[in-house]
Amino acid sequence: MRSTATAAALFLLGATTALMAQDEGSIDKGRKVAQKHCTRCHVVGNFNPNGGISSTPSFQLLVKRRPDYQERFQTFYARRPHPAFLSIKGIGRIRPDLPPNAMPVELTEKDVQHISAFVETLKPKKKP
Ligand code: HEC
Repeated sequence: MRSTATAAALFLLGATTALMAQDEGSIDKGRKVAQKHCTRCHVVGNFNPNGGISSTPSFQLLVKRRPDYQERFQTFYARRPHPAFLSIKGIGRIRPDLPPNAMPVELTEKDVQHISAFVETLKPKKKP
């Protein structure tokens, strides 16, 4: 009985720690990951003001404007077009059935948290 309670307490502690760790992305690491892997298509902050692909929204356009932008950044790898070329370490490619339509990239779940922390530092683009 006691050991069950202890196990449950430890489990809760572990789950809470994991959740807390999830919230603590590093802005610097996120900046580096975004610069390396997202600027191919997205304009990201000041890295590539004239770069990216014109049909792809800039991060400044994606951030802080929609009420659910944080969730969108947390789950971007499962949102089109990313599932075809992005895989998450330990999880793999989200849609292995799709042919990669861009150079494949592998990130870690932690990278996703870092990116989320980094995008908080971006100023949203004003509505025209
Ligand atoms: C091969 C090109 C490409 C790369 C590389 C890429 N994206 Fe995207 N991303 C897109 C396109 C195109 C869209 C717009 C999709 C749409 O609106 O249908 C998009 C949309 C998004 C969205 C909004 C999704 C939604 O449903 O609201 C987020 C967030 C995002 N990208 C994050 C990232 C991050 C973070 C990276 C780098 C790790 C990245 N993207 C790398 C092409 C790319």
